[in-house]
Amino acid sequence: MDLEAPPPTWTADRFGPFVTEDATEFKVATGAYHRADVFQAELKKIFYSTWIYLGHESEIAAPGDYKATWIGQQSVILVRDADGVARAFLNICRHRGAGLCREEQGNTKLFVCPYHGWSYGLDGRLAAIVDRSRFPDDFPTEEKGLIPVARVESYGGLIFGSLNAAVESLDSYLGEAKPHIDLWLGRCAGGRYRVAAPHRYAYRANWKLQAENVYDGYHAHFVHRSAYNTFQKFDNAFTGRQYTAIRSIGQTRGFPKGHGVLQAGSPLENKFVSAEIRQQYRDELERLNGKARTDEILENRHMLIFPSVVIMDNNIRVIQPRAVNHTEVYSYPMIIEGAHDDINSSRLHDVQTRVGPAGIIGVDDLEVFHGAQTAMSGPGVESITLSRGLHLEEQTPSGERIGAFTDETPQRAFWRRWQADMGGAQS
Ligand code: FES
Ligand SMILES: [Fe+2]
Repeated sequence: MDLEAPPPTWTADRFGPFVTEDATEFKVATGAYHRADVFQAELKKIFYSTWIYLGHESEIAAPGDYKATWIGQQSVILVRDADGVARAFLNICRHRGAGLCREEQGNTKLFVCPYHGWSYGLDGRLAAIVDRSRFPDDFPTEEKGLIPVARVESYGGLIFGSLNAAVESLDSYLGEAKPHIDLWLGRCAGGRYRVAAPHRYAYRANWKLQAENVYDGYHAHFVHRSAYNTFQKFDNAFTGRQYTAIRSIGQTRGFPKGHGVLQAGSPLENKFVSAEIRQQYRDELERLNGKARTDEILENRHMLIFPSVVIMDNNIRVIQPRAVNHTEVYSYPMIIEGAHDDINSSRLHDVQTRVGPAGIIGVDDLEVFHGAQTAMSGPGVESITLSRGLHLEEQTPSGERIGAFTDETPQRAFWRRWQADMGGAQS
């Protein structure tokens, strides 16, 4: 390759094409994973422009409950106000910019800045300035409230925020992913999810490597083979899940909004739950939903809501980009309120032993992400390919694409959306 050649074409206000596609191949330029200018543009054009997951309603169940989280590199506070409304604010003191809320979660009546003691109510208003008389009489305190996140909306208990006041409604944004979220909610059998304490971990690679891995049905045969062999060697005593072989039944789906789903054809049983309790749970689901929909509800399903929240069978995984080559992941186990204890403990156990940071599966992927980041950051390879099933996937009139379990259909949906967002003129 010509090392003097300019990188993939972009100008000061247009990025692209990092993603190219024709009938034979779907390619992504490696610079999309390692270039610092691309990362800065992603923050602006994606994270600060669209809907980003902030948290689950159960994390802020009572007035005064709060959680600190991120929209890209913008720290934000999600809080339940005194009237029970979920609100979100930028986590910045209006005095001299100190980080206001230093705890990850808690309950409070006021947010008090650690620097000079300014305090803010749950509605964001500036409640008090210490030594107010040292400020001019007409100092505009009413203008010094916390800056609200422009839009906060929720679906099925999942609360999203956007810094972009003109963003489309969350309902419209979720689009074709909503029926899949509904199926995931259906597992609650008329009850609700409640978040358990998250696993938090980091890896030294780009955030998109985790995003495009979560619905990758192609990789398990290879990178996780030793894990599956271990499961079988110990008769699944480790996780309780009844793995007999690495499976490739099921489907992948990619949606026009950039979301995607990996959908296995049947549920995995968990032997830590007795057949009797499993049957009771299934009976209740069938009573509420009928048999056919119950089968769908119990299918294994991993979905990514573009750009960075993953809804898995037993947990929600939130991908937080900290730098172009540094990503944090928060994985929240989801407890079903009212379900039998054995069902919930099996869900927790699955997150801990399989997909969590000390799990036997999750760490395989992190190792691959490190290797890919290192390899792609060199000058040798200009693009990677995501072409599996490109010529075979079915496209519906709405633009949804459906591929086989091992096809790269959802990854292509992600990258098409990514390119559309990144390619637009900077505002
Ligand atoms: S920076 Fe918050 S009170 Fe001064
Ligand atoms: Fe994996």
